[in-house]
Amino acid sequence: MKKRVLFVLAEPSDLASLRTMLAPLSDEWEMEFVLKEEEALAVLAQSTIDVILSEIHLTGMGGLQLLTEVKSRAPRVIRIASSSCAHRATIVSALEVAHQFIPMPFTPEVLKVTIARAGALGARLTNESLRSLIAGIRTLPSLPQLYQELVAAMGSSNASVEAATRIISQDMAMVSKLLQVVNSAFFGLRRTISSPAHAIALLGIDSVKSLVLAVQVFSQFEQAKRSPISLEVLWKHGLTTGTSARDIAKSQDIGSIGVEGAFMAGLLHDIGLLVLATNYSEQYGEVVTMLKNERLSTCDAERAVFKASHEDVGAYLLGLWGVSDAIVEAVAFHHAPGERCQEGFSTLAAVHVANSLEEASDSLATSGIPTAIDLQYLTACGLAKHVPLWQEVVGCSPARESAAAAAQP
Ligand SMILES: [Fe+2]
Ligand SMILES: [Fe+2]
Repeated sequence: MKKRVLFVLAEPSDLASLRTMLAPLSDEWEMEFVLKEEEALAVLAQSTIDVILSEIHLTGMGGLQLLTEVKSRAPRVIRIASSSCAHRATIVSALEVAHQFIPMPFTPEVLKVTIARAGALGARLTNESLRSLIAGIRTLPSLPQLYQELVAAMGSSNASVEAATRIISQDMAMVSKLLQVVNSAFFGLRRTISSPAHAIALLGIDSVKSLVLAVQVFSQFEQAKRSPISLEVLWKHGLTTGTSARDIAKSQDIGSIGVEGAFMAGLLHDIGLLVLATNYSEQYGEVVTMLKNERLSTCDAERAVFKASHEDVGAYLLGLWGVSDAIVEAVAFHHAPGERCQEGFSTLAAVHVANSLEEASDSLATSGIPTAIDLQYLTACGLAKHVPLWQEVVGCSPARESAAAAAQP
């Protein structure tokens, strides 16, 4: 089915050129072009749309207010803000309500990639209320001590990039939000942002201070207090999986971008658990009870309750926020990578193996059946021969080794 995309631009001449430029995409998208906010809301009232791209500076209520209306009337619609004025502050305020920002003028290719990424894996998320909830998320809760440490560090007179990097790199909520901001602020670089340190260095310490102290793009743990799983354990698991994925990637001699990408993907791989456990604490309690009483994998128990797993949820959120394909893929398939076989090393392979080794060492937050290393998948990718080395570089504990042994065919 074709995607329905609504464009709202202020200038008739810009709108006319956009219509002409995007005409070749009419096989893929059903497109509407309007000049005013009221016309956009009328389109929305009459029919379902999948994506709205609005210029920020419109003549009526303004593009951001329009996107706010769209968020409240049709929360699942993918919201993209655009402007020829791409100041950092403009972008950050746009991301209060938009999933992504792209600077004007843009090419059809840029638009195609942006929209494809934002909707990637949406088909796996058939639970409409969950999809709407994810599309409405502005921030995720951070670990309280890290949040407080960051506020204190950024509020001090000698706030530094190093301090910001050290704290933010430990927190999956902060890193995911940072990637959203940086991918929009440095649009052309979105495929090459290699690490939290790189992202923070690009933004500069003044922007990071403003994000933390003034705009408050990172948040504390309020809604997380009722979570039925230990979020401290989840944090530790994310961090150790990220570190292990980085060590595995390092052993492949793939360069620093791939190595740090593996770290970020490992850190973020269970971000869907954070979304589910903090927004649906009661239903996630049912998942935890099922896992105590039945021998199930975490994903199967989640599917029974939510019709979706934490893989689906995390990947959809990060795709909406414009995070790179390699990270989204690793998040989406870290328990069952077989669907994504490809020759050679990948971020997904590193995260799958790192997660399996970490689960076996009893650091998982949910106590489902631990994920076994998928040797069939690794063999198909030509990577199975590396597993003993990867176990060694990760520094296998006896528990990890027994899990790896159990994975042998
Ligand atoms: Fe997981
Ligand atoms: Fe995990």
